[in-house]
Amino acid sequence: MNHKTLLIGISEGILTVTVNRPDKLNALNGQVLEELDHIFDIVYADPAIRAVLLTGAGEKAFVAGADISEFLSVGSERGIELAKKGQDIFLRIEQCPKPVVAAVNGFALGGGCELAMSCHFRLASDNARFGQPEVNLGLIPGYGGTQRLTLLVGKGRAMELMMSGNMVDAQEAKAIGLVNHVTSPGDLLDACRRIIGTILSKSPVAVGKVIAAVNAVDDKSKDGYAEEIRLFGECFGTEDMKEGVSAFLEKRKPSFPGK
Ligand code: COA
Repeated sequence: MNHKTLLIGISEGILTVTVNRPDKLNALNGQVLEELDHIFDIVYADPAIRAVLLTGAGEKAFVAGADISEFLSVGSERGIELAKKGQDIFLRIEQCPKPVVAAVNGFALGGGCELAMSCHFRLASDNARFGQPEVNLGLIPGYGGTQRLTLLVGKGRAMELMMSGNMVDAQEAKAIGLVNHVTSPGDLLDACRRIIGTILSKSPVAVGKVIAAVNAVDDKSKDGYAEEIRLFGECFGTEDMKEGVSAFLEKRKPSFPGK
């Protein structure tokens, strides 16, 4: 499949995925969603891809939301389908066993904020702005935003953001826990790559299990503490654990086989 709305590049195991509709502030139309879904099929399957860096094209936007121009013809039934589809794709991003980091380089609004929140964590450039402005359109977030924003920033702040439609800048986003670090626009991708590089020097098996255990927090089908016990136990059966512990005891750097 040729991607028409995504730019893709791989370097040192990091797949950079850039949503590329800068003239529409990278709004998520049906095609972008299809292509994101497809690229994550590849991310899950291809061992050469060890992490994902997700960003938006241009200097103005990460993603300014779902494509509003597609909405007027949508009725309730189709609205449900749209939300299910968006939620499925964003859940696959969140559940990806390899690290997925959002580089938020401008507006992250509506579905764009939801996309950033489905990544494992976020860095933002100092010109980034976040918001869930759906109420301006007579809508609510539908791609997981009501749930993920609440988990990230707490119920009171999430309620205010979603009821007012107000935006917050990068510093405020950092202060409320929506992003981990704020950089200059020019340093954003390098800063993400530095953190991803650190993560990629660790046991990939253990990193995948951290993702799974943390995701169990809001998975109602799982008891998170029981999940932690199970995943912790599994680590003791891995070659990565034997290598990591041996390397520590032998005072050398580990070289993780990733199994
Ligand atoms: N869906 C479709 N098109 C969008 C879009 C979206 N979510 N966000 C921006 N665009 C388009 C604009 O329509 C415009 O297209 P045009 O040049 O063909 O008219 C282009 O992107 C540039 O946006 P513009 O509004 O001119 O830029 P701005 O700097 O004046 O304003 C925003 C930037 C982000 C404040 C404004 O675009 C906006 O409010 N976008 C919608 C955000 C939103 O409600 N998202 C949630 C959707 S559920």
